[in-house]
Amino acid sequence: MEPKRGEDVAIQSIRGMHDLYGAEMGAWSAVEKVVHKTFQDFGYKEIRTPVLEKIEVFSQTVGEDTDIVQKQMYTIERSDEQLALRPEGTAAFVRAVIQHQLHRLPGAQRFYYYLPMYRYERPQKGRQRQFFQFGGELINDASPEADAEIITLLDQIYKALGLSHYEVRINTLGDSESRAAYRKALEEYFRPLLGELSEDSKARFERAPMRILDSKHEADQSAVQKAPRIGEYLTDFAKAHFESVKQRLNQAGVSFIVDPLIVRGLDYYSLTAFEFVSDQLGAQSALGGGGRYDGLAERFGEKPIPAVGFALGMERLMLALEASQKMPKVPAGPFLYLAPLGAAAFERFYPLSLELKRHGLGCELLYEKDKNLKWQLKQANRCGAQYALLLGEEEVAKGVAVLKNMSDGGQKEIGLDRIVEQLKQVHST
Ligand code: HAM
Repeated sequence: MEPKRGEDVAIQSIRGMHDLYGAEMGAWSAVEKVVHKTFQDFGYKEIRTPVLEKIEVFSQTVGEDTDIVQKQMYTIERSDEQLALRPEGTAAFVRAVIQHQLHRLPGAQRFYYYLPMYRYERPQKGRQRQFFQFGGELINDASPEADAEIITLLDQIYKALGLSHYEVRINTLGDSESRAAYRKALEEYFRPLLGELSEDSKARFERAPMRILDSKHEADQSAVQKAPRIGEYLTDFAKAHFESVKQRLNQAGVSFIVDPLIVRGLDYYSLTAFEFVSDQLGAQSALGGGGRYDGLAERFGEKPIPAVGFALGMERLMLALEASQKMPKVPAGPFLYLAPLGAAAFERFYPLSLELKRHGLGCELLYEKDKNLKWQLKQANRCGAQYALLLGEEEVAKGVAVLKNMSDGGQKEIGLDRIVEQLKQVHST
């Protein structure tokens, strides 16, 4: 029976949360492999935090005024505790750092994660309610080189996958002194314009006027464009830090543009902030983003921990790879399909299939003992094997099997004795 199409069945996955299987899953795995390897090449070690955290982990850190905290968290109440499904990785990561005292380890420490995130957003292309992020976090290092390393690593991940249609936009949000001065300037600038601003921006004015710069509302655009820029309010320290980051990026061969409107949707950043933006994704154009967040630990009552990091969205990465025709080629099926023609051949192939798997040669054998050549070749095609190995009564008598190349149809006889070694040779060419 043909499987039912997703939309015809009564029971469905939750809106904005998707199943992955078949060729799509294969492509995801191939991309994940490249990303894991790039992190490891840069010396990052994997960390996994739980999917549920106490709600304060996020509400105290990400920012009261942010969309995530105000309206996007999935919350659960259990034994009088308020819990939240992880909407982002950084706050949970810092919770784990403090809990395990990882910042007490000597010198810079590099971590990465690959985890699903949950945000109650309006689903659209590139925006889901469950989505996967790879994130990289570098702690115990306050140098501009650490910021440049994080941006270079993200750039390297995309380059390793063959992506080129993106722009690296960087900005500085200053240190706390710069931000206090800038905040005052923004308040003075926006106050007389409040009447013209969107409701969202009016609300932001009171608590986080800098976030108005992030507004996508049409009504806010002209005021945002003419707003004062942070450059004039930076302390010497913040200015020098930003200059060094830019210089190191130039040295690393990362092209970037300085965009004073990059303020990020989360509250914990200071100094460097950045986004990688693609022109191939439509409205949800941010491929990945991050910045420095030395002050986040203080929101858990700790001393500051120098830290910088990023996260990239896997769904958007896959869309961008597809649009650039850079989807990795993944073998559709196993190396070999074993096609026994009759019971005697099946008895030869059954132990052979076990041996091949022990030797790491992928193969498929169906437990059908009386099928003809036509049926077997149809199955070999269906499963996407590179080769089929055919064995009929005549071949059993001769002590050979026929190896058929499924892509060009070419075939040759190989002896049944030493067959594993011969197949190993074919596999390695
Ligand atoms: P973020 O900018 O909120 O940063 O998310 C990073 C990336 O996750 C986005 O650029 C996008 O590719 C992807 N993403 C976000 N929301 C969705 C969604 N609803 N559907 C699909 N993809 C999405 C953070 O999460 C910070 N924790 C990054 C960070 C790490 N900063 C420092 N370290």
